[in-house]
Amino acid sequence: MRAVLVNEFGPIESHAIADLPDPEPGPGEVLIENRAIGINFPDALMLRGRYQKRPPRPFVPGRDCAGVVRSVGDGVNRCKPGDRIVAQVFTGAFGQLVPAPQERCFLLPDGVSFEDAAAMITVFNTAWVAIDMRAGVQPGDTVLVTGAAGGVGSAAIQLCKARGATVLAAVSSAEKADFVRTCGADAAIDTNASDVDALKSHLKAQVGAATGAAEGRGCDAVIETVGGDLFEASLRVLRFAGKLVIVGFAGGTIPAAKANYLLFNNLTVMGAPLDIQFDMVYADMEKGVNAWLALLAAGKLDSLISARYPLAGFVEAFGEITGRNVMGKIVLDPAEA
Ligand SMILES: NC(=O)c1ccc[n+]([C@@H]2O[C@H](COP(=O)([O-])OP(=O)(O)OC[C@H]3O[C@@H](n4cnc5c(N)ncnc54)[C@H](OP(=O)(O)O)[C@@H]3O)[C@@H](O)[C@H]2O)c1
Repeated sequence: MRAVLVNEFGPIESHAIADLPDPEPGPGEVLIENRAIGINFPDALMLRGRYQKRPPRPFVPGRDCAGVVRSVGDGVNRCKPGDRIVAQVFTGAFGQLVPAPQERCFLLPDGVSFEDAAAMITVFNTAWVAIDMRAGVQPGDTVLVTGAAGGVGSAAIQLCKARGATVLAAVSSAEKADFVRTCGADAAIDTNASDVDALKSHLKAQVGAATGAAEGRGCDAVIETVGGDLFEASLRVLRFAGKLVIVGFAGGTIPAAKANYLLFNNLTVMGAPLDIQFDMVYADMEKGVNAWLALLAAGKLDSLISARYPLAGFVEAFGEITGRNVMGKIVLDPAEA
């Protein structure tokens, strides 16, 4: 099979496609004939050796794929050859054949395409963890989503809207503002400011205006994907007992919260790591995957695929992510490797 191969961590353009022996499924594994690959910000970190976990080299990277089960290893009971599935794995999705632990494989509902499912699995799983399992967003809540035109952000907008929340979507450009409105956001919030103090007042004024309430009413929750100054400013738009959910640091700066600000304003700041949920609370995570897949099958969610590349064009595709250009999701076609 053909696959992206990481011999050693390095810049994305230092990696290439290689011919590799076809993998066999081990015990508890499913071998997937890959039909579509979704790419994510964490994949870009993984290729460069900046992800929090570093697998032994060489390895085939990639976390999201969808396809048809070719064969199964001993003990597999979740699916059988011929089934259509989507998988979220730790490594391996950037190959034409993907060995996946059966617990990370989910049957596709009728009518759901490989492309949509592969584009959505990590970002919708992450948004589900943040919105449902951590923030507990309720109908009528007001939620600020940062990095809102990105993969996790645009998934968070859709899941919040599906449960009847008002969504304020924080973005850095007019083009992204138009995009988040088409995703269902009630208002776009501009994040351009000269420094952190200017950003705090800019965000507070816009959130006050968007909620139609006196400045200071604030948001029930923030789904925060960017970090840095935006994390600090987002804390300032929370209402009494508001919750900020840390999803990631796409801007590259890991922020710190001042404990006295949390104390005096009765706030909660919490993390929303995705992968550990599969290890610690598998049944809850499985419920979440099936919940968004059902919403997708019912036509209530959109994969928001904005670009398609051959697998062989992975370097260019990742340039869209690292260049901060992507809106929604990018998929790769493993047939073109
Ligand atoms: N918690 C978890 O388990 C988990 C799972 C998946 C992803 N994540 C993390 O969540 C974050 C978002 O992931 P994603 O897949 O949604 O990424 P994405 O599609 O690339 O979107 C990231 C967004 O962040 C903003 N951004 C600000 N500074 C940036 C920079 N220097 N480079 C790129 N983007 C920048 C951009 O919006 P503006 O231009 O509007 O600022 C962009 O739309 C990442 O930090 C990722 O590692 C966490």
